[in-house]
Amino acid sequence: MEFTPKEIEDYCKQFSTEESKILLDLSKKTWESEESPQMISGSLIGGLLQMLIKISGSKNILEIGMFTGYSALKMAEVLPEDGRIHTCELNPEYIKTAKKWFEKSSAKNKIFIHEGKALESLKKFNPGSYDFFFIDADKGNYPRYLEQSLNLLKVGGIGVLDNMLWSGKVLTPNDPDSIAIRETAKIIKNNPNLEPLLLPVRDGVMIFRKIK
Ligand SMILES: C[S@@+](CC[C@H](N)C(=O)[O-])C[C@H]1O[C@@H](n2cnc3c(N)ncnc32)[C@H](O)[C@@H]1O
Repeated sequence: MEFTPKEIEDYCKQFSTEESKILLDLSKKTWESEESPQMISGSLIGGLLQMLIKISGSKNILEIGMFTGYSALKMAEVLPEDGRIHTCELNPEYIKTAKKWFEKSSAKNKIFIHEGKALESLKKFNPGSYDFFFIDADKGNYPRYLEQSLNLLKVGGIGVLDNMLWSGKVLTPNDPDSIAIRETAKIIKNNPNLEPLLLPVRDGVMIFRKIK
C-alpha cells in the first residue's frame, strides 16, 4: 500500500529544508548500490528527526538500525558539539559503508557505532541517560527494543519508531512483523507514562514523549 502519491511526496520535499551535499550523495549511492535501498528512512523522516531534536534540545541520542548511516548522520548534523549518537548495527558491511561516509563529515566525532545484535549492545548503556531514541531495525524485536529503550530514556525524552504502519499490514496483522509492530503500538498507547502520536508519514512514524 502506497500512502502518499510520489507527486505529493516530491512537493513536500521541494518546500522543506534541503539535504546537505553529503546526505544527497549517501542516499544516491545507497539507492544505486545496495540490495535493499528502501530501508533508508529518507529526507522527510530525517527532516522530522532533525526538527524534533532541535525543538527538544536533545543531546544524547540512541539509534537502533543504522544501515548505510543516513539517519545517524542526519541527526548528528543538528547536534551541538557535545552531542552524541550511539547507533546499533548488526551487519559489518553496512558498518564499513557508513564509516566511510562519517569520515567525510564534520559530524563524525559525534557518532559512535555499536556492532552486533542491538539487544546485546543496549545492555551496555546507562539507564535514564538518553534524550531521544530512534528505532528502525528488525520489526520482530520492536517490543523488546521499546522496553529496553524506555529504560534508557530520560523523563521528558522523546522516542521515534519508523515503519509503524508496515505498508498497512498492521490493520489485519497475520505475519510476525506486523503482529510485533501492532503490539508495540498497543504497548505505547497503554503506557500512562507516554504521550503518543502516530502519523501516516511515509510508512508510518510513531512519536512519543516520556512524561513520567
Ligand atoms: C531499516 S534499516 C535502518 C535504516 C536507517 N535508520 C536509515 O535511515 O538509513 C534497518 C537496519 O537494522 C539492522 N538490523 C537488523 N537486525 C538487527 C539487530 N538485531 N541488531 C542491530 N541491527 C539490526 C539491519 O542490518 C539494517 O541495517
